[in-house]
Amino acid sequence: MPATVIVGAQWGDEGKGKIVDLLAQHSDVVCRYNGGPNAGHTIVVDGETYKLKHIPSGILCGKECVIGAGCVVDPAVMIEELDDLEARGISTELVRLSGNAHLVMPWHLAIDRGSERRLGRLKIGTTRRGIGPTYADKAYRLGIRVQDLLDPKILRQKIEVALAEKNVWLERVYGSEPIELEGLAERYEGYAQRLRPLIDDTSLLVDRALRDGKRVLFDGAHGTLLDLDHGTYPFVTSSPTVAGGAAIGTGIGPTRIDRVIGVAKAYVTRVGEGPFPTEIEGPDQARLQELGGEFGTVTGRQRRCGWLDLVGLRYAVRLNGITSLALTKLDVLSSFAELPVCVRYLLPDGSETEEFPAHQSDFHHCRPVYEKLPGWEEPLDGIEDLSQLPVGARRYVEFVESQLGVEVSLIGTGAERQRVLSPRGVEAVASLY
Ligand code: IMP
Repeated sequence: MPATVIVGAQWGDEGKGKIVDLLAQHSDVVCRYNGGPNAGHTIVVDGETYKLKHIPSGILCGKECVIGAGCVVDPAVMIEELDDLEARGISTELVRLSGNAHLVMPWHLAIDRGSERRLGRLKIGTTRRGIGPTYADKAYRLGIRVQDLLDPKILRQKIEVALAEKNVWLERVYGSEPIELEGLAERYEGYAQRLRPLIDDTSLLVDRALRDGKRVLFDGAHGTLLDLDHGTYPFVTSSPTVAGGAAIGTGIGPTRIDRVIGVAKAYVTRVGEGPFPTEIEGPDQARLQELGGEFGTVTGRQRRCGWLDLVGLRYAVRLNGITSLALTKLDVLSSFAELPVCVRYLLPDGSETEEFPAHQSDFHHCRPVYEKLPGWEEPLDGIEDLSQLPVGARRYVEFVESQLGVEVSLIGTGAERQRVLSPRGVEAVASLY
């Protein structure tokens, strides 16, 4: 059964978009199962840069693209994305949107901003796209779903009920202006007209695709350490980011998933607040930021940069059941003479561990224990075959494999689609599933 999950193995921004784009060419259906406009994929195809937030990158190679029930959708952002793709000659006819996905409403954006403002120094550093409040309302059962867009009367009624409560919050808790029902209901009816044709029973659609022997790729947004249950809480997003979320967020059984490809950068980045053991102090921080172009797709914020953390990656292998790894942006490390790689954490009690600490305080106060690997100090441009990789680069990859006990099946050496190496050949990796 050809179902593969692609999951970020760090704190997001691992370069999943490029890997999904690559494997999507050999797939029939590509599904998003979590998150919303807080996710951002940047994909470069033939010199054209595409920045996608809601729509899986499979759209760029004409695949059926599903936005599952576990996602949250900001209709204004999604429509802009659809229009932009169409204007650039890319058909969006094959985008299907689950009726069970939740809508990000203007009050969610206002509450996200207000809450971060109030938290001050203790803020999470969210993308301010209303994600937390939308998932909170989903759990609180006050959410508005995509299927509510199908009936103007129901839509208006639900907005009215939610607003009655949200306006009290906005005014009393955050000192913000209340939101008017009239203009809002009209605006959302406009969005509804544009999105209605895309709404579908996507759980059934994916089930049928799998039954028909089609290749289905699940495109996980964000990264493992941002998972609501297993990530570095409270500095996490509000959805399940781990591979198991693919089953829940699309509405298929966990037994339908065959393979999980974890995507990790050859170093680590993090956006927003929260502990980050291998964060670099000193000039290499800015150097890595510059060389890797580490600025967020969604918010444009600078990403914090750190050395590769194998303790975090080992945890990601465990949580996701990763069957092989894609190691991206190896080329960015080309100009460093020496590369520290974190192999263990030193805990506050003086002991060392290879396993990710289960207790938040241990993680917040741990120190990285590095093994220093020699760099290669030559560009990886023009390398078309694994055998042409400098010895240092090959050793770096082998070190990751031996420490984690997982094969690195894809190695990213540049932003373009074709800049990927694979021990077995990219075609083989792609057609294995
Ligand atoms: P939220 O998802 O906007 O609520 O943000 C919660 C945390 O997750 C913040 O630290 C964000 O910077 C982080 N985050 C959310 N989505 C992404 C992503 O796609 N890449 C990296 N960080 C993310």
